[in-house]
Amino acid sequence: MTVGAEQSQREEDLIATVVASFDGCADRRLRELMQSLVRHLHAFIRDVRLTEEEWNAAIAFLTACGAITDDRRQEFILLSDVLGASMQVVAVNNEAYANATEATVFGPFFVEDAPLLEQGGDMSFGAVGEPCLVVGTVSDTEGRPIPGARIEVWEADEDGFYDVQYTDGRTAARAHLFSDAGGEYRFWGLTPTPYPIPHDGPVGKMLEAVDRSPMRASHLHFMVSAPGFRTLVTHIFVRGDELLASDSVFGVKDSLVMDFQPHPSGDPTPDGRDLGDSTWSDVRFDIVLAPAAS
Ligand code: BEZ
Ligand code: FE
Repeated sequence: MTVGAEQSQREEDLIATVVASFDGCADRRLRELMQSLVRHLHAFIRDVRLTEEEWNAAIAFLTACGAITDDRRQEFILLSDVLGASMQVVAVNNEAYANATEATVFGPFFVEDAPLLEQGGDMSFGAVGEPCLVVGTVSDTEGRPIPGARIEVWEADEDGFYDVQYTDGRTAARAHLFSDAGGEYRFWGLTPTPYPIPHDGPVGKMLEAVDRSPMRASHLHFMVSAPGFRTLVTHIFVRGDELLASDSVFGVKDSLVMDFQPHPSGDPTPDGRDLGDSTWSDVRFDIVLAPAAS
């Protein structure tokens, strides 16, 4: 819809007035953020010729996001994720560097102080799912091993839930370990399975209204840090998963899709672990860290 010159001028005058209201902000970065936000917000309102009813609905939606948010549930992160904003922030802040492993979305389910694993330990701690042996190396972009890198891992169980989504206080399917003197690591986790992001709140209603699925492609989260290197927040995905092309939070990158090798029950495990009559899988994920920004 086009508007007349006089109306258009009135709208632009308002933007100029609001932008100028931040001119006195002594913090230059905050001023830049606020003035750019005002310009983009007003551009959106004018672009779609937003109705008052729609603006009220938007405020009601944000209010509902706030009401459901507490220390176990963060609806605003979900909103940022499903709008692709989280992935855009990841993109802006993790420029590709040589052959460094690509980053992806953090998600809301990381927990500090997850248990420490020995090499080859089992991070499932009783979470249900098919055992999966995960092995790899941590190295720099020249191929030199990084010993002592801290590797945090977390994932959903086979029922699609992280431990923190249960109300019994359990700690399961999360841990941290360190790369060894040769930069190698190895642990048992669970073969990742698909799950929906929490969709019983306003973000879920929004996805339903726009005919979008809340499902995430199967994945296992990693956060890898070492002094002198850029901390890597990423996941690995399962080749062949039909949700790879429609991940609800836009987190999939081709370089992060891995070959999880399925094994029938009774197939001997490399470390001699007895898995009874369970099937299992294994995967290799070699991690390359970019240098920290200087
Ligand atoms: C996750 O992968 O844990 C996640 C990411 C974004 C939203 C919800 C969950
Ligand atoms: Fe996840």
